[in-house]
Amino acid sequence: MKRIIIIGATSGIGHEIAKLYVQKGWQVGIAGRRKDALVEFEAKAPTQIKIQQLDVTVGDAAEKLQELIDKLGGMDIFLLSSGVGSQNINLNADIELNTAKTNVEGFTRMVTSAFAYFKKEGGGHLAVISSIAGTKGLGSAPAYSATKRFQNTYIDALAQLARMEKLNIHFTDIRPGFVATALLKDRKYPFLMQAEQVAKCAVSALDKRKRVAVIDFRYAILVFFWRLIPRWVWERLAIRND
Ligand SMILES: NC(=O)c1ccc[n+]([C@@H]2O[C@H](COP(=O)([O-])OP(=O)(O)OC[C@H]3O[C@@H](n4cnc5c(N)ncnc54)[C@H](OP(=O)(O)O)[C@@H]3O)[C@@H](O)[C@H]2O)c1
Repeated sequence: MKRIIIIGATSGIGHEIAKLYVQKGWQVGIAGRRKDALVEFEAKAPTQIKIQQLDVTVGDAAEKLQELIDKLGGMDIFLLSSGVGSQNINLNADIELNTAKTNVEGFTRMVTSAFAYFKKEGGGHLAVISSIAGTKGLGSAPAYSATKRFQNTYIDALAQLARMEKLNIHFTDIRPGFVATALLKDRKYPFLMQAEQVAKCAVSALDKRKRVAVIDFRYAILVFFWRLIPRWVWERLAIRND
């Protein structure tokens, strides 16, 4: 039986993806900081779901991931959905540093652990949910956009490293546009999608082992043109929604 572990599945996109894998009959391991949400989800299908409370910013998270893998009896897909983000026009340093702690330090901790596991086991599928926000630096959310670019580049680097080392590890970088979850804090965004829709697209991308999946096609078109904007024009655009 196939096994997936999703870190950051207590709410939002990760939670919806976990529900779809349970429906597909997979063994599903989920993690996050909120114990109540983990226990509530496990109760829906106790024979199929295993849980582990962990905080990606804390040093023991890698050991806790291994505990979850052991509970599940192995791992075929690792998916990291944990992430935080805030608009921060006032450049509050605590917000910026906290974002980097989760999206860079926590991300690196979990992804390196998953890479090491698949290397030891002879292969696997390593996936992350980053964002289209990594395309260019957003003045309203500097740390969020920069940390998402870090994630994109990190996965590019690991994909090259795996080939250099002849490892049978597949990578998927899932890049949603704006999704109506707690992360957006009820602000208004263009082409806003529901987490359920994004989860379906993400599962399809994982099934096809897509290397990069921008969700959905409207954001793929937006990102295509977004990339073409020269820096001197980009820096003069006032992109804000407050
Ligand atoms: N919403 C959007 O518009 C959007 C767009 C593009 C990409 N994304 C990305 O999608 C991912 C999921 O976000 P979401 O929109 O689904 O928001 P969400 O509902 O707030 O989910 C965030 C998830 O991350 C977990 N998490 C946060 N900090 C953590 C930590 N220190 N340790 C472990 N888990 C942690 C949360 O679990 P606990 O609180 O239980 O720990 C939760 O399960 C994020 O990486 C986000 O950047 C979101």
